[in-house]
Amino acid sequence: MRFLLPTIKGCEEYAAKELRRLGYRHISTLQGKIIVEAPEKYSLMENIIRLNWIPKTIERVALILNEGKIMSLQDLRSLVEEADDFIVELAPKHGSFAVDTIRSGSHSFTSIKASKEIGSDIFKVLERHEKYPKVDLTNPALIFRIWIENDLAFITLDTTGKNALRKRRYLAYRHPAPMRTTLAAILLEMLDYSGEPLLDPFCGGATILIESAHRVRNIPNVAFRDQFAFYNINMGKGLGNVTHEILLELVDAMNDAQVTLRGIEIDPSRARGAMLNTKRAFVSDTITIENEDALAVDFKTPRFIVSNPPFGVRLNNNITETELYHRLARKIKEISDVDILMIGPKKIFKPAFDEFHQKKYITISYGAFYIKLAHYYNP
Ligand SMILES: C[S@@+](CC[C@H](N)C(=O)[O-])C[C@H]1O[C@@H](n2cnc3c(N)ncnc32)[C@H](O)[C@@H]1O
Repeated sequence: MRFLLPTIKGCEEYAAKELRRLGYRHISTLQGKIIVEAPEKYSLMENIIRLNWIPKTIERVALILNEGKIMSLQDLRSLVEEADDFIVELAPKHGSFAVDTIRSGSHSFTSIKASKEIGSDIFKVLERHEKYPKVDLTNPALIFRIWIENDLAFITLDTTGKNALRKRRYLAYRHPAPMRTTLAAILLEMLDYSGEPLLDPFCGGATILIESAHRVRNIPNVAFRDQFAFYNINMGKGLGNVTHEILLELVDAMNDAQVTLRGIEIDPSRARGAMLNTKRAFVSDTITIENEDALAVDFKTPRFIVSNPPFGVRLNNNITETELYHRLARKIKEISDVDILMIGPKKIFKPAFDEFHQKKYITISYGAFYIKLAHYYNP
């Protein structure tokens, strides 16, 4: 039983690390996605539910129905045909579906053409088996997604649905430039974060702090969101029992560890928003938000500083970005044994942090642009 799990491009290694930690076998890495083999001790249904509810670093969960090498659209259609039994089994008797093709590399067919032809093939096979499908391209109950990277193709069924897993649903206040929850989780995975004192000096809506608390307290995604496409899959009887069992197990695994998680935010309405978010995310008891200028407060002695400092915006305290990063670096220099993880444009933070021990620089694809993820250490 294999799954294709999209994540943030450039961070695949850390998604694979989390999945291995959760008992999945990492098979391979493609651009912005990893392939894993699920543990046999769980049924198909259990694996689908667990993957949607527990991991923090992945964007969605696609069940692989078939995979192989292709040269032409006909090869692709043959791969789908080989998966016909699986498709018929998983499709409900009534319900809508769509086919979506995501390609990288050059091919003799377009994504639209592939989706259209495969959609028609799937329609026919479902009809032959007395399932009564409806094609719905705007709000389908199920999406068969074809991922193609060069000559490799994966025929998958999306089990997550319209909203990617980064939509955790705990944000009461929407910061204008929030960090993706999945990226925050990736940063914590890089650090093997397990509850050490952590500071975010430019905390915005507090995403990094909330993800830190959720990681330590084992708070799963399902605590805040219960919309997943797998409810539309035909998984036979007993889905309710299985979800109930898994929920009980996840509730048992949660804890109320007290962690020192500190956020600083200069803007009063954002600081208030951050407090609201920590409350909505059930972790306000372990996160403190200070409405201050980070450059003017004592950082104390965090073990980790994790942040995406402001860039490309006017700063509230009338200083330039260059000055802000230099002053930040000088403040951090005073702290010993601290790891620093930052997201932003290299040309601004590299000169300021040049003296630090550099552990890693990664280029990540983030929305429409590329940014740097930098890991420094001050002994
Ligand atoms: C890129 S945003 C951080 C977003 C945050 N990670 C989130 O997920 O919501 C940077 C934040 O730093 C704040 N900021 C700017 N200068 C600051 C300073 N001197 N001290 C504290 N916060 C500051 C901005 O108001 C902004 O909310």
